Amino acid sequence: MKNEKPIPQHVAIIMDGNGRWAKQRGKERSEGHIAGVESIRATLRAAQKHGVKYVTFYAFSTENWGRPTAEVDALMELMCYSVINETPELIKQGVRVRTIGDRSRFSEKVQQHLAKIEQETAEGQTLTMILALNYSSRDELRRSFRQLAEAVKQGEIQPEEINEQRISAMLDTAAYPDPDLVIRTSGEQRLSNFLLWQSAYAEFYFPEVHWPDFNEEEFERALEVYAGRDRRFGLVK
Ligand code: FPP
Repeated sequence: MKNEKPIPQHVAIIMDGNGRWAKQRGKERSEGHIAGVESIRATLRAAQKHGVKYVTFYAFSTENWGRPTAEVDALMELMCYSVINETPELIKQGVRVRTIGDRSRFSEKVQQHLAKIEQETAEGQTLTMILALNYSSRDELRRSFRQLAEAVKQGEIQPEEINEQRISAMLDTAAYPDPDLVIRTSGEQRLSNFLLWQSAYAEFYFPEVHWPDFNEEEFERALEVYAGRDRRFGLVK
């Protein structure tokens, strides 16, 4: 056991560079997003192969509503279409699909598709794919703090009972372990409002490739980098 490489239990991914990938090829930005779906498939295959149990994809941030309407619509369409299309394969592979973020802002149709896929994949045991949709960390924290304040107001908890566990339990990610490894493609080195609380002790990896060029080999490279890191969690070895 001693020589086995550490494998992250949870990998969280900021899929960046779809637009640049498309532009470099003289294509529409939405074509970059379409190509990016194949990278999600490849990542899931590689994650399963190596025993990673949770993969979170930052698919749509609360800030993404500010993009041109045509791009937002194309992304919604793509997400719905992919989610429906991939369901049988995800079930076959034992992938459970979950989401984080505030889904209430999506259309009824999108919300129904998401609820359906969550329900149909609920028995998946090999890997949990978490889609961050209309998600941003500050928005998640804001919602959680309001819930906590309400619980205090109702007398359900005392202010001095608010500890880290209680805060974690209020977040959208309450049911999942914190990410061990955060990957952001296309060379940008920012968190962009993604899992701020949860990434407190995560390792970070920033490959240069744009998301549509991220594949199984790239994921394995990320695992190699992770295995070489020395995680101390603020302690001394
Ligand atoms: C960032 O690239 C990417 C996104 C905002 C969207 C990612 C979404 C997908 C790959 C499709 C998701 C599908 C499912 C089923 C969840 P960018 O557009 O910011 O690229 P740029 O920085 O080069 O402009």
